Amino acid sequence: MKDRQESLHGDVGDLGDVPPAIFREQLHRLADWIADYREQIAERRIAPNDKPGAILARLNRAAPENAAGLDEIFADIDRVIVPGVAHWAHPQFMSYFGCTTTSPGILAEMMTGALNVNAMTWRTSPAASELETLVLDWLRQWLGLSEQFGGVVYDTASISTMHALATAREQAAPSTRKQGLSGRGLPGFRIYTSSQAHSSVEKGAIAIGIGEDNVRRIGCNADFRMDVLALRKMVASDLRNGFKPLAVVATVGTTSTASVDPVPQIAQVCREHEMWLHIDGAYGAGLALLPECKWVAAGWNEADSIVINPHKMLFIPFDFSALYVRDIARLRRLFTLAPEHLHLRDPVGAEINYMDYGVQLGRRFRALKAWVVWRAFGREGLAARIREHLRLAKLLADWIENDERFELSAPVVMGVVCFRFKAGADDQKIDMVNSSVVERINASGRAYLTQTRLRGRTVMRIGLGNVLTTEQHLRNIWKLIQATATEVAA
Ligand SMILES: Cc1ncc(COP(=O)(O)O)c(C=O)c1O
Repeated sequence: MKDRQESLHGDVGDLGDVPPAIFREQLHRLADWIADYREQIAERRIAPNDKPGAILARLNRAAPENAAGLDEIFADIDRVIVPGVAHWAHPQFMSYFGCTTTSPGILAEMMTGALNVNAMTWRTSPAASELETLVLDWLRQWLGLSEQFGGVVYDTASISTMHALATAREQAAPSTRKQGLSGRGLPGFRIYTSSQAHSSVEKGAIAIGIGEDNVRRIGCNADFRMDVLALRKMVASDLRNGFKPLAVVATVGTTSTASVDPVPQIAQVCREHEMWLHIDGAYGAGLALLPECKWVAAGWNEADSIVINPHKMLFIPFDFSALYVRDIARLRRLFTLAPEHLHLRDPVGAEINYMDYGVQLGRRFRALKAWVVWRAFGREGLAARIREHLRLAKLLADWIENDERFELSAPVVMGVVCFRFKAGADDQKIDMVNSSVVERINASGRAYLTQTRLRGRTVMRIGLGNVLTTEQHLRNIWKLIQATATEVAA
């Protein structure tokens, strides 16, 4: 027994959980660790320069046969894991859409872990279900969506879009839930989305049996917004060829440039051809919280569904995706396996069982962090922070325009800036220079950018959205970009 205790470093009891006193002590240490991490994060190198497999090589690969002390485990986290991640919350990490972790969000995530409830039915955790209903209603109002829209929380926009497309398919061919798609002489369904849309549209089409090839990519205009005339032509051509136009996925805040498709005009085409209109506002829909940006929400109330990821702009830690569907009862019917009249324990139907609104049975209590963060900041606080990120994006755009060696590659609509170092005559060489600048900066550990392709050319891309990012951080990055571009071009 004594040997056993020693092998456990005194940390972990024989059976049951870690002794409460040890848990409490570790928790206090963790509180300090997290606070230090947040406070000193800007001093860290952003991402490791390791080769694949380097982290595994530093860890003991043997499955743990005996218990280890928490001190030893946490020492490994400090030694190997923390230096081995990309620090998304670093104020000079500018990839993707900016990191939306906030301190209230971290606190709420810790509480969620402690509660560890399963939000599958109302009975398995009434507060989890009701809080989900509440935060979905707050967000619906902030987005300006009519009361007709009902919502559900999933993990990601990819999953939200898949469920939206499944509901569209159910509306067009109600027998598919029971009988599936194959071998029944149904028309070939077609889904339309722009050349700038996210690949989650194809993933959704693959998952629901419509197939990747039946997602038709529509060209964009000079501002990377869907060309509605081209959409009309594509739909007409598909109709002539015997296909059934099923849905259009319009994007509000595209992945590369944050461009916004002309939703009202797309909605008109959808009405004419009885197509489902799904809006992918995973990133951009959050802009609707700003009174001066209400333009972004034009046409939303004509849509059948809309997805927004508050973990992309609205300061909720990853992950949290909200899908709103105008006829949410259709989504529920599609995924409810027990008929409603069999819910005998709830004769008045007041219990919302979110497991009925999708493929998943077990569900995390995601609503808690939204409730905590949104109360901690309020809509005004959220809007003020987004406004600051827009200001920083415009400021960077000004700096770019004032340096003749650079050019903006797309209009700056939200907290995303695409630009290109253009010195030189040969486009391909310039592509290589832009790509090398991003790679060198990322390897330096001092900033982190993305590169993307626009109109066939490589450009650099910066995403703002982190509450820790200040104007000084942005200035540091811009100087680094200027210096690195000069070096690479030479
Ligand atoms: C516009 C857009 N839609 C959907 C997605 C997919 O998001 P998720 O990772 O939540 O599935 C992304 C990811 O960046 C995106 O930019």
